Amino acid sequence: MKITVVGAGAVGASCAEYIAIKDFASEVVLLDIKEGFAEGKAMDLMQTATLNGFDTTITGTTGDYSKTKDSQVAVITSGIPRKPGMTREELIGINAGIVKDVASELIKHSPEVTIIVVSNPMDTMTYLAHKELGLPKHRIIGMGGALDSARFKYRLSEALGCPSSDVDGMVIGGHSDTGMLPLTRLATRNSVRVTEFLSEDRLAQVAEDTKVGGATLTKLLGTSAWYAPGAAVSSLVQSIACDQKKMFPCSTLLDGEYGLKDLCIGVPVIIGKNGIEKVVEIELNEQEKAKLKESAEAVKKTNGLLE
Ligand SMILES: NC(=O)c1ccc[n+]([C@@H]2O[C@H](COP(=O)([O-])OP(=O)(O)OC[C@H]3O[C@@H](n4cnc5c(N)ncnc54)[C@H](O)[C@@H]3O)[C@@H](O)[C@H]2O)c1
Repeated sequence: MKITVVGAGAVGASCAEYIAIKDFASEVVLLDIKEGFAEGKAMDLMQTATLNGFDTTITGTTGDYSKTKDSQVAVITSGIPRKPGMTREELIGINAGIVKDVASELIKHSPEVTIIVVSNPMDTMTYLAHKELGLPKHRIIGMGGALDSARFKYRLSEALGCPSSDVDGMVIGGHSDTGMLPLTRLATRNSVRVTEFLSEDRLAQVAEDTKVGGATLTKLLGTSAWYAPGAAVSSLVQSIACDQKKMFPCSTLLDGEYGLKDLCIGVPVIIGKNGIEKVVEIELNEQEKAKLKESAEAVKKTNGLLE
């Protein structure tokens, strides 16, 4: 299984590293436009192979898409990240052009590829990739919810004072500070609803901390985070590569599911060798439905900026 990661920056390199450490892919190609950068990152990562015990080959290239030929999965992380105080939506001007160019280059060399879009504003970039490429909808996946859910579980474990492995939960909706919808009602600790353990106020705080999870890190780091984003992408790639059929909330082109149409937004999906194999429609209560609708309206507004 050959995997391409476009953008050898913070998220792209972290993603390549986790894919290699999980050791399920034969080859990862890192591509960047900055001269020598992807080659350097690839060489540095390859020098961890004996230390971390993986056999995946990582190569780097400056802009040569012929090296990405016949990739089964390609991840788009190219584009600028947020600086403190910025919203993801503010990145649209620069990132739309980059995502458009990168997506069409990828498809020229790997017509069968499944694309995972990471660049922000991610829901709109995923929609743009659909509009630009016209691929079957299961082959374009936006990564946001897998990361937001990991952040949600971290915040829940903090509130519960328990290991994250005890906790399960999911964030759906738009990948933005205001659009995320952490499903506190459905989150569990070892199959017991967390509502049994945490007060309404504490859960509201968990949800709020989750929603601003990216902004909190951007403030601390001076740029957006990369370890958890890289790990989240690698989990999606692995689910495709190993046909695991895991369920993640991902941004997908909806056509009536959840009463929404003609936009990409985070909902639970099954990820397997064909990309998005199924959209899972869960029962939401009236309040959750209203929040998802509001989130969808905000995503559509950002999509409107593409015109
Ligand atoms: N979806 C998510 O959950 C999520 C999480 C974190 C970051 N992000 C987004 O991912 C993107 C990357 O973040 P980062 O922290 O890795 O940024 P970064 O600046 O560290 O890396 C971006 C890389 O893209 C490269 N690049 C720019 N234009 C390119 C092009 N046309 N072709 C190939 N490479 C190109 C740059 O040279 C740079 O190395 C940002 O848009 C960020 O907002 C999304």
